[in-house]
Amino acid sequence: MKHIETIKEMQSLALNWKRSGITIALVPTMGALHEGHLSLIRSACQAVQLHGKVVVSIYVNPIQFAPNEDYSKYPRTLQNDLRLCQEAGADAVFTPSNEVMYPSGNEDSNAPLRYSTFVSEEVLSKTMEGISRPAHFRGVTTVVNKLFNIILPDYAIFGEKDFQQATIIRRMVRDLNIPTQIIVSPIVRESDGLALSSRNRYLSPDERTQALCLSKALKMVQEKVSIQSFPAKELKEEIRVMIEKQPDAKIDYIEFFDPESLVPVVEVNTGTRMALAVYIGKTRLIDNAIL
Ligand code: PAF
Repeated sequence: MKHIETIKEMQSLALNWKRSGITIALVPTMGALHEGHLSLIRSACQAVQLHGKVVVSIYVNPIQFAPNEDYSKYPRTLQNDLRLCQEAGADAVFTPSNEVMYPSGNEDSNAPLRYSTFVSEEVLSKTMEGISRPAHFRGVTTVVNKLFNIILPDYAIFGEKDFQQATIIRRMVRDLNIPTQIIVSPIVRESDGLALSSRNRYLSPDERTQALCLSKALKMVQEKVSIQSFPAKELKEEIRVMIEKQPDAKIDYIEFFDPESLVPVVEVNTGTRMALAVYIGKTRLIDNAIL
């Protein structure tokens, strides 16, 4: 497995592969890899089969974090990540630095940032995560575009846990005619239902128990909606009461929406998607499910 840190080397390797007719699958990550990421790598291996190449990018992208968010304390576990990528069958891991991705020009002066081009999706990114984290998706679509241009993937694999992100990336690929097929891989959960996330490692044992309220809320609504439809307002109130029983839980949003357009629904039916974001202590967790 190759470990690549520069754009020049990554892009020329990808170009050589393409010229030889080799298919490329990309798994974009921010590292701190867990079983959820490994399932994305396995989906990538399946997509390209024996003759293709799988690239994992590991980059904590500063422009998708707001100043009050956890950019500086986001877990960085590179040596372990490299080992996991190798074991999972990746052919290359791309780990650029900030200076490589967003060059500032003159290193020894206070010159303004030389980097000034961004990509933003204008509709789907305005709800849910986009309300709580207004610059987040612009950062995501920009870095994913850059990674697509550097790695030239035929396939890119994203996790369903970030459902809104995956929907926005799909829209961006469609709108900008990017020749990459987006594959969305199912959420991986612990046996008690907690969705895997790199941020779970911030949780104390007690917070870890409280965090189960997210998956329990999804399950409760799934069961109710399998029998009959309910007004979204009524379900939101029921979930609010349930989640607020946890002493350290603070709801950011609960939403019921159409899975394609992300437009909120008034009446919740089977086929509606539900998503929620909840702070457990200082840790912000998200989860979602089709009902
Ligand atoms: O989902 C993530 O880990 C990140 O948002 C991504 C897609 C790697 C872009 O930085």
